[in-house]
Amino acid sequence: DKAEDLKLRPPIVTVMGHVDHGKTTLLDVIRQSRVAGSEAGGITQHIGAYQAEVNNKKITFIDTPGHEAFTAMRARGAQITDIAILVVAADDGIMPQTEEAINHAKAAGIPIIVAINKIDKANAQPERVKQELTEYGLVPEDWGGDTICVPVSALQEQNIDELLEMVILVAEMEELKANPDRLAEGIVIEAELDKGRGPVATILIKNGTLKVGDTLLAGTTCGRVRAMFNEYGENVNLAGPAAAVEVLGFNDVPDAGNFVQVLEDEKQARDIAAERQAKKRQAELQQDAK
Ligand code: GTP
Ligand code: NA
Ligand code: MG
Repeated sequence: DKAEDLKLRPPIVTVMGHVDHGKTTLLDVIRQSRVAGSEAGGITQHIGAYQAEVNNKKITFIDTPGHEAFTAMRARGAQITDIAILVVAADDGIMPQTEEAINHAKAAGIPIIVAINKIDKANAQPERVKQELTEYGLVPEDWGGDTICVPVSALQEQNIDELLEMVILVAEMEELKANPDRLAEGIVIEAELDKGRGPVATILIKNGTLKVGDTLLAGTTCGRVRAMFNEYGENVNLAGPAAAVEVLGFNDVPDAGNFVQVLEDEKQARDIAAERQAKKRQAELQQDAK
């Protein structure tokens, strides 16, 4: 893409952290209060991603895909997120999955914003969390480092705006850009076979704009966009950079983490998919022979 075609796009954010430290509570409170156009709390989420709006700026949240799915995507080289929010419960501190999350984010080279959660609890020790963070090379800003730490209570909705403002700030420093006027590229974040609708895939658009009727190629499968739905289950015809949409029209269920391409030529997409299938079968046969 030429520099003049690139436009700022929303950041794509994942929330990571140890079991029960409050990831889902945080994602829910953001979704219920800050999703564009939603009546507070009145929306049902259909896909594992949503866009929140803060001071007229959008943020795409990927509902924590679980560490396994995240690892699988990394193994395929799929970079889904731009920023990680690391949730650490102030009464519990850094635990094994916190450490894992730090390692994922470091390996992906993405900035980490720490949400020190559960500060409403009587036994909360946010300063102890900061001390522990330094042991992982994450030195809080107020300790002279460059790791942004925001004390929050997801349960009592304390400091959530401050946290989201930090996400916008970091996104602006990263200058995340995409070209909305090209054929779409994206990543499958989840996919399944639906009895009535056939293969259904949630695709996160990384570049370009996806349109109904576009020819798709993802891993060993291809197809054509028959219909698309946003996070509210509404029919949409277009999905631009950093949007996540549910897509119908794949011939087979793609794998989470598959890179998605739109091609001009349907026959070319079919040929490439067939070629990849043949290669995959050959590899499986060789594996069996061993
Ligand atoms: P897993 O998905 O199982 O890894 O957990 P999680 O990180 O999504 O945590 P979840 O949001 O399910 O919260 C775990 C428990 O902590 C629940 O009982 C929440 O109500 C509680 N919790 C979450 N945030 C806060 C908070 O800010 N303060 C207090 N006191 N409790 C909280
Ligand atoms: Na939990
Ligand atoms: Mg959860």
